[in-house]
Amino acid sequence: MIYYFSGTGNSRWAAEKLAEYTGDVCCSISEAKEIPESADDRQTGLVFPIYAWGVPEPMLDFVKRLERKAGFTYGVCTCGADAGKAMKKLSRIAGLDSSYSLVMPNNYIIGSDVDDEKTACSKFAAAERELKSISEEVRERIRTYRVQEGSFAVLKSSLINPGFNRFARTTKPFYVTDACCGCGWCAERCPAETIRMTDGKPVWGKKCFQCLRCIHECPQEAIQYGKETEGRKRYRIEEYLQKRG
Ligand SMILES: Cc1cc2nc3c(=O)[nH]c(=O)nc-3n(C[C@H](O)[C@H](O)[C@H](O)COP(=O)(O)O)c2cc1C
Ligand code: SF4
Ligand code: SF4
Repeated sequence: MIYYFSGTGNSRWAAEKLAEYTGDVCCSISEAKEIPESADDRQTGLVFPIYAWGVPEPMLDFVKRLERKAGFTYGVCTCGADAGKAMKKLSRIAGLDSSYSLVMPNNYIIGSDVDDEKTACSKFAAAERELKSISEEVRERIRTYRVQEGSFAVLKSSLINPGFNRFARTTKPFYVTDACCGCGWCAERCPAETIRMTDGKPVWGKKCFQCLRCIHECPQEAIQYGKETEGRKRYRIEEYLQKRG
């Protein structure tokens, strides 16, 4: 079984590819009504995005509750550039046999623009090759640690990540422009179930994973996060998958 969490689709795509290549099944930990017990205990995969050089809260919570299986356990994080020491931290809880990072298009438009098309396409091509290698290694039970940690990895994961979790996940900067048509898609799709429709407009509660799904998926591009996201292109994985065929 491959358990995944994904805000904007990269980790879902990676989990689905891994399932296809390893002959496994995958399950979204935030969308499944009930998390199915693994029918096959021989291997467990964990796939998720990197948030500020750390593991997203829903995946950490899930792993803490997950019953340890005797089989092969591996983790794959998707990231725009580097993962810091996130996989080491996860491994201390999950006891990973193998850890990987997979560089994919960056969705953190609070910090910077999305990747240009050429960069995004070459990241997809490299990620697909890497997923094939990972699948081979998982099938052969090869234990490895192939993680792009980046510079100042300890500092980023032990200092910046706690700061991000404590201060940066506030919902206060969220607002909608007049373009909002009141369709309710953002409220329906929020994995933290924090968005409520009030008088035809979304209102944010306190809890937020900062997955940015609401911002990227809004069909009217009406959701902004302070000034940072104004004028920035949204990331839609489907556009790239369609181009790849
Ligand atoms: C809140 C937030 C923080 C992020 N921090 C990092 C980071 O520390 N390093 C990095 O390389 N990418 C970072 N990213 C980019 C994502 O990890 C990357 O785009 C990932 O593939 C998104 O996966 P998803 O589509 O499954 O949500 C961040 C994205 C978000 C939303
Ligand atoms: S998804 Fe966008 S358009 Fe639809 S309700 Fe939310 S903010 Fe408004
Ligand atoms: S409010 Fe938006 S960014 Fe926060 S968890 Fe929900 S969808 Fe993700």
